[in-house]
Amino acid sequence: MGVLRHYRELLPITDKTPDVNLEEGMTPLIPLPRVSKRLGINLYGKFEGCNPSGSFKDRGMVLAVAKALEDGKRAVICASTGNTSASAAAYAASQGIPCFVLLPAGKVALGKLAQALMYGAKVIAVKGNFDRALELAREGAEKTGCAMVNSVNPYRLIGQRSGAWEICDVLGKAPDWHAIPVGNAGNISAYWAGYNEYKKLGKIDRLPRMMGFQADGAAPLVYNKPCPNPETVATAIRIGNPVSAHLARAAVSESGGEFNAVTDAQILEAQRVLAAEGGVFAEPASCAPLAGLMKLKTEGRLPEGITVTMILTGNGLKDPDTAMSQVGKPIEINDTLDDLMRVLGE
Ligand code: F0G
Repeated sequence: MGVLRHYRELLPITDKTPDVNLEEGMTPLIPLPRVSKRLGINLYGKFEGCNPSGSFKDRGMVLAVAKALEDGKRAVICASTGNTSASAAAYAASQGIPCFVLLPAGKVALGKLAQALMYGAKVIAVKGNFDRALELAREGAEKTGCAMVNSVNPYRLIGQRSGAWEICDVLGKAPDWHAIPVGNAGNISAYWAGYNEYKKLGKIDRLPRMMGFQADGAAPLVYNKPCPNPETVATAIRIGNPVSAHLARAAVSESGGEFNAVTDAQILEAQRVLAAEGGVFAEPASCAPLAGLMKLKTEGRLPEGITVTMILTGNGLKDPDTAMSQVGKPIEINDTLDDLMRVLGE
């Protein structure tokens, strides 16, 4: 059905808004019994990797592109650590408009780069980090009149609220904790706004604690200061100066939540646990929340029996290089039954 049709009444859609739709949204909220048992909680993963471009970005991009067209814009531009660019390029392709994406050179996962190029975007590799690419994209948008579709575009965050609505629609309530990775800090803010809207509408009666997780090498919200040289294996959240920092801080303090940092090693271990004990392959940034929950558990700070939803923001297939660096090689055999039995018998 797509986000615009499914949540039409809750979105700023007019008769003139084009019907943009890649069947985004309605992603599965996957119960994770084995991981839940390990942590002593009731854990669900909302697998945003099932969206058409493989990340949560599609929820907001569909609205941003629809409103850009409604406003008479004829091209879109964004800076990205990879997923925003893939999403923008996909929606621009579906509408037949040009898309310009600025990426930090050499720091974008292979799958995301392949996507943007395949969808036909003009891909520009900036010799600088994401924060600088974002400044440039904003200036470029101003000078050319292209629609800026980063999360500074308010429609992005409005569309992303749909993730919170879906969780409540499925659970019949809000979770106790909402665990989410934080990069440019838009998504945590969008979810908080979404939960609040549902509470106002009387669809839920209490709000979750918002638990934001950052990579230790790119954790400006945890350490309360911009990080000039962010570095992490979770390239999606390799961001030192989040544009929505103020909104994210408000979400965490209003909800009684927390920001926590996790190391790259903890993120990669969580990625393996999620795949090998949950059956879900999510990209490294998406695994920061599980890494954080595992850390809080060892610190004795994870309450028993609570319901936690974590947002698995992007598909693991987007970053095969990082995954392959963490796992063993296939077992090679000759094409004989003897060789096969030797392996199966082990
Ligand atoms: N997880 C993934 C997989 C992401 O791609 C991003 C952000 C985040 C988490 C963080 O979300 O920025 O709303 O706090 N990716 C952006 C991009 C920056 O360009 O694709 P946030």
